[in-house]
Amino acid sequence: MAASESFQREVDEIYAVQLDHVTKDFGGGVLGLDDITVGFKKGAITVLLGLSGSGKSTLLRHINGLHMPTSGKIRVLGQNVPELNKQELRELRRDVGVIFQSFNLIGPMSVLENVCTGRLGSLKGPRLSLMMYPKDVRREALEKLDRVGLADRAYQRADTLSGGQQQRVAIARALMQNPKVLLADEPVASLDPVSSQDVMNLLKQISEEDNLTVISSLHQVQLAIDFADRIVGLRSGEIVLDELTSNLNEEKASEIYNSVSGVSIDNEVGDSAVTSGQEAR
Ligand SMILES: Nc1ncnc2c1ncn2[C@@H]1O[C@H](COP(=O)(O)OP(=O)(O)OP(=O)(O)O)[C@@H](O)[C@H]1O
Ligand SMILES: [Mg+2]
Repeated sequence: MAASESFQREVDEIYAVQLDHVTKDFGGGVLGLDDITVGFKKGAITVLLGLSGSGKSTLLRHINGLHMPTSGKIRVLGQNVPELNKQELRELRRDVGVIFQSFNLIGPMSVLENVCTGRLGSLKGPRLSLMMYPKDVRREALEKLDRVGLADRAYQRADTLSGGQQQRVAIARALMQNPKVLLADEPVASLDPVSSQDVMNLLKQISEEDNLTVISSLHQVQLAIDFADRIVGLRSGEIVLDELTSNLNEEKASEIYNSVSGVSIDNEVGDSAVTSGQEAR
């Protein structure tokens, strides 16, 4: 085996996702990503912080191949994403779960059926009702619901749940893929502070139990500090900060707030902004 190949294999053992000098040019002078090089370790929770338009969603969309880079390399779970054909990309996406700010549940459908839809990527043919899913899929969906604390809501219409509960259903649905990587694009942006904490807590617990790699965009600095292993700050498509939360003290946290908000604020304001969990928008 070539030395570079065995080296790459060792790197793949450690990192679930690697971006190497990735640039995304959307045309008209807009760089969604500007020469990004970053690796995301297996089993770690990384939060992407940054102002609106800084490139958080664009980065996430490169990881599951929804965007292809203009230049640079993206490696996810040992595969070079831009080189995959449609079938290979579909297979990779089975290992990469996604949750969104808007939950994307089917409102009139039961909670349990919504969770079952998480398995559609590996089932052949359409499923028009809950009973059309194999029994073992339904059983597994109930187990996932139990895991997110909502087994007792299985037969309730999804749109009758609170926002926090709906996001937990969306997490259970993503877990039906038994993903190795979970991408979360502002998973708590529509939730109140208590529900936001619940959802982030749940993601942390699942990440620890399943060695799941979580990459999540957020706007709240304090949540990032409380729940992430690492914070990556973006501005205009560039990485402007990369810190392990275990290294953070208040001063550093305040610096993070400043660097992602793009404004210079004095320490006192910075500290209170951080401790009050003010949004870095
Ligand atoms: N499909 C696209 N076509 C053209 N420009 C795009 C496209 N998607 C994103 N962009 C641009 O790329 C930049 C980064 O956008 P992105 O959506 O990644 O930001 P974000 O950090 O997720 O913002 P927000 O916090 O508002 O969700 C922005 O300037 C945006 O206008
Ligand atoms: Mg976004």
